[in-house]
Amino acid sequence: MTILVTGGAGYIGSHTVVSLLDAGFDVVVLDNLCNGSAESLSRVASITAKAPVFIEGDIRDSVCLSDLFSRYDIGAVIHFAGLKAVGESVLKPLDYYETNVGGTITLLKAMQSAGVHKMVFSSSATVYGLEAPTPYEETQPRGTTSNPYGSSKAMVERLLEDWTQAVPEASVVLLRYFNPIGAHESGLIGEDPQGIPNNLMPFMAQVAVGRRDKLSVFGGDYPTPDGTCRRDYLHVMDLAEGHVSALSSLEQPGVRAFNLGTGAPVSVLEMIRAFESQTGVQIPFEIVARRAGDLPEFWANPEKAQRGLGWFAKRDLDAMMVDTWRWQSNNPEGY
Ligand code: NAD
Ligand code: UFG
Repeated sequence: MTILVTGGAGYIGSHTVVSLLDAGFDVVVLDNLCNGSAESLSRVASITAKAPVFIEGDIRDSVCLSDLFSRYDIGAVIHFAGLKAVGESVLKPLDYYETNVGGTITLLKAMQSAGVHKMVFSSSATVYGLEAPTPYEETQPRGTTSNPYGSSKAMVERLLEDWTQAVPEASVVLLRYFNPIGAHESGLIGEDPQGIPNNLMPFMAQVAVGRRDKLSVFGGDYPTPDGTCRRDYLHVMDLAEGHVSALSSLEQPGVRAFNLGTGAPVSVLEMIRAFESQTGVQIPFEIVARRAGDLPEFWANPEKAQRGLGWFAKRDLDAMMVDTWRWQSNNPEGY
């Protein structure tokens, strides 16, 4: 079967393309390269000894999409393409809604015209909102999101629910990612943010490799065991494999949501210690003021994914640190 992977030249997309090719799928990647790299796909080909088809194009471009669907016999779509920086979304809400919501509508229309009705969508733990009790469970309703990025994910979940109501053969899996980190075990592909990293792990890795002086730990006075925020970090290859598991559940019509996380919260200070002990590299850090919008802690109850998809996270925090460091030290400036 051929899978269309939108955003497949990005961080999670490129790792998922490896898992798909390894599992025997053919892959067509559509990416406009606004935050991805064609080099990542050359490296995917080195890892798997198979090459995905790459089309440089935009999910908002209906002509490009209808051409793509007429040329390739697509069985299902894994939809990663989108903008993902929380802070930027506050400054540029229209861009975020245009790409994340508008782009998904354009994609769904093209899929429908081509008779393609299966989608795995990249959602986020952020849809549980500001007030949700932890651990987050799929039985909890979506909550109040605090920024346009989070709102765009919640809107797309809702529109996919409406689409599956209207189209009886439609089948959608919403994967709610917690905090993906790490890199493929080869060290050939990994996370390569443009500019100053927003997220903890890539920032820490750039400090370790000497690109940044020190890590700022945002807040040391949270109501958590060591005062720093706790998150559910999962290995990007476990996340990638979750998409392969989700594809096999797309025989069932309707929409289903799954948390993809480990179920174990880890604090920022524990992350620093784990990185230092696995790599032998010290991370200079300073505890500074809280970052606006951060929740003290949240993590997944991942049991539904194990029951419904047969998926669970297999790689531990030490592997996440070792694999991040292999990627970053072999590629200090990224791709
Ligand atoms: P990423 O930025 O590395 O990948 C997204 C890819 O989409 C990039 O290659 C980019 O060039 C491409 N893209 C963006 N707009 C496009 C457009 N209009 N047309 C075609 N391609 C376009 O991000 P990622 O971390 O790999 O995230 C992938 C998906 O997972 C995103 O939808 C993101 O919101 C979601 N997600 C990520 C995280 C995380 O922590 N990384 C957490 C939850 C959800
Ligand atoms: N942190 C620091 N210093 C940094 C960067 C982050 O101390 O330089 C801290 C944050 O304050 C937070 C933790 O590290 O406590 C994790 O922060 P990330 O930015 O790595 O991840 P978030 O949990 O804030 O964000 C993630 C996804 C978003 C999603 C959000 C809510 O990256 O896409 O979860 O679900 F919206």
